Amino acid sequence: MPVDNVLKLYSKTIRSSFLHYGFWDNPSEVSLESLTLQDLKIAQLRYAEHLCSYIPSDVNSILDVGCGIGGNAEYLLSKGFHVETLSPDNYQKRVISDKFNKKMIFHHTKFENYDSKKKYDLVLESESACYIKIDAGFKKAKQILNKKGYLLVSDYFVHFRDESKSPHFKSSHDMNTYLESAQKNGFELVKQYDQTDNTMPTLEYAGYFLERFIKPSLDYGFYSVKKNYPTISKMIEKMIGSKWDKKKQQLDLIDSKKFKKYRKYMIYLFKKKYAE
Ligand SMILES: C[S@@+](CC[C@H](N)C(=O)[O-])C[C@H]1O[C@@H](n2cnc3c(N)ncnc32)[C@H](O)[C@@H]1O
Repeated sequence: MPVDNVLKLYSKTIRSSFLHYGFWDNPSEVSLESLTLQDLKIAQLRYAEHLCSYIPSDVNSILDVGCGIGGNAEYLLSKGFHVETLSPDNYQKRVISDKFNKKMIFHHTKFENYDSKKKYDLVLESESACYIKIDAGFKKAKQILNKKGYLLVSDYFVHFRDESKSPHFKSSHDMNTYLESAQKNGFELVKQYDQTDNTMPTLEYAGYFLERFIKPSLDYGFYSVKKNYPTISKMIEKMIGSKWDKKKQQLDLIDSKKFKKYRKYMIYLFKKKYAE
């Protein structure tokens, strides 16, 4: 199955075991000027700690769906849970195999297609729910959960839409549709937490880094090419000019004000309903 190269890029650059936003206990006190990569890694571990504090005490076995490069699974193992991992991604398959010395069970498939007779106490979807088809995901979770099983989801959802063509509407589920589907597919929402504010410093740092380092470097690069190779520069402009403008619209995704306008980053703990 193919490799998600954007996620691979994050894992190669940040070099932590997590592929999520991280959790900042005091977001208003974060100073972007003095923030380090180490702070980001600490926030990512804090995210795992905070998310896992929602795991009910009667849970023993966990399927980590969309396990990424294994940070959450490692954390859960350290807390004594029995953990299996799942992802469709080839690169992540290799990383998980190396990280856990081939001892971690890894299901190499999309969750919707996971074919299993095995049952789990809890299915974890940490920043992976947005990749999984809504109804198919709930149906699969219901099928592989024990009678009193739980689904713990941490992800961003669209809570507001307007006429704009914001990229925030893409690759993110509609919040009401998601909650309605949970209800329809036999899940009861037992806990929720809005962690939007706690996750925003990561986006704000990405925006800061872009403005401070990437944009000036690109501007200088363009200036140099234009000055030294005017003909080539015109050809490149013709070839990629409109694509470049489209790509620039994607930068809205790291605009925390726009994120908050359209999305909420939620933790949902669902319990499978069952008849006695
Ligand atoms: C943003 S990463 C999150 C990784 C990890 N859970 C974490 O919190 O660090 C999204 C994960 O979902 C996986 N994914 C994408 N489509 C999926 C699908 N249909 N079923 C299961 N996992 C999927 C990706 O390969 C990746 O592992």
